[in-house]
Amino acid sequence: MARVTISTLNKMKAKAEKFVCVTAYDATFASLVSAAGAETILVGDSLGMVLQGHDSTVPVTIDDMAYHTACVARAQTESLLIADMPFMTYTTPEQTLHNATLLMQAGAQMIKMEGGVWLSESISMLVERGIPVCAHLGLTPQSVNAFGGFKVQGRTPKEAKSILADAVEIQDAGASLLVLECIPAALAADISSKLDIPVIGIGAGAGTDAQVLVLHDLLGLSARTPRFVRNFMQGEDSVQGALAAFVAAVKSGTFPAREHTYE
Ligand code: KIV
Ligand code: NA
Repeated sequence: MARVTISTLNKMKAKAEKFVCVTAYDATFASLVSAAGAETILVGDSLGMVLQGHDSTVPVTIDDMAYHTACVARAQTESLLIADMPFMTYTTPEQTLHNATLLMQAGAQMIKMEGGVWLSESISMLVERGIPVCAHLGLTPQSVNAFGGFKVQGRTPKEAKSILADAVEIQDAGASLLVLECIPAALAADISSKLDIPVIGIGAGAGTDAQVLVLHDLLGLSARTPRFVRNFMQGEDSVQGALAAFVAAVKSGTFPAREHTYE
């Protein structure tokens, strides 16, 4: 795989070629994920749950994220490296700029933040200063306490309208990518077709431009998994095999299937 940049992903969207994202939190897994052909690697704040044992991503700090971003960056992969801004580290444009800088200097090539319209000013500020942004809408896990649990979002017409409006707004503000998590497949497909920027889905059906899963979930290591997860170790005898199976399933359109999707 040649070095992946945002131009690579834009070209893939234009050609309707699906791309793949997998989370990684250390150098070994980052190398394996990239070798399997995933165009993007996400150092997700899901590490709060799968590595640290918390029951949400709320306790994760910017130092945790910078540490794991640096571990992943040392793998020197060809994949585009995105790192999550954790809970309450991007409440004002100035705070956002400071904390995003820490992740970029740890080796991230793009940062991800959960939110829509209210992030516009911060997104423009980062982008103008050279920090590319991925936004994240739908079930934004840092807001689990506000949602009252990990619940599918965008099921009412009002919610769906507001997610679409947020998506358009973050694109206009300068975001390069968008993650849509746990929303009905039809809504995710509609947003993906309306936006020029590539959209990465998780629990958002097969109509997005790309798919992401948490590494531990796709390797079948997580105790409880949501409907949208498939265990890619089934039928494989190595981590490498499972990662390759995930990449192949996304690219061929066999994952996600209907059973992984919310209507
Ligand atoms: O933290 C994470 O792993 C994520 C993905 C699930 C999109 O944000
Ligand atoms: Na995250």
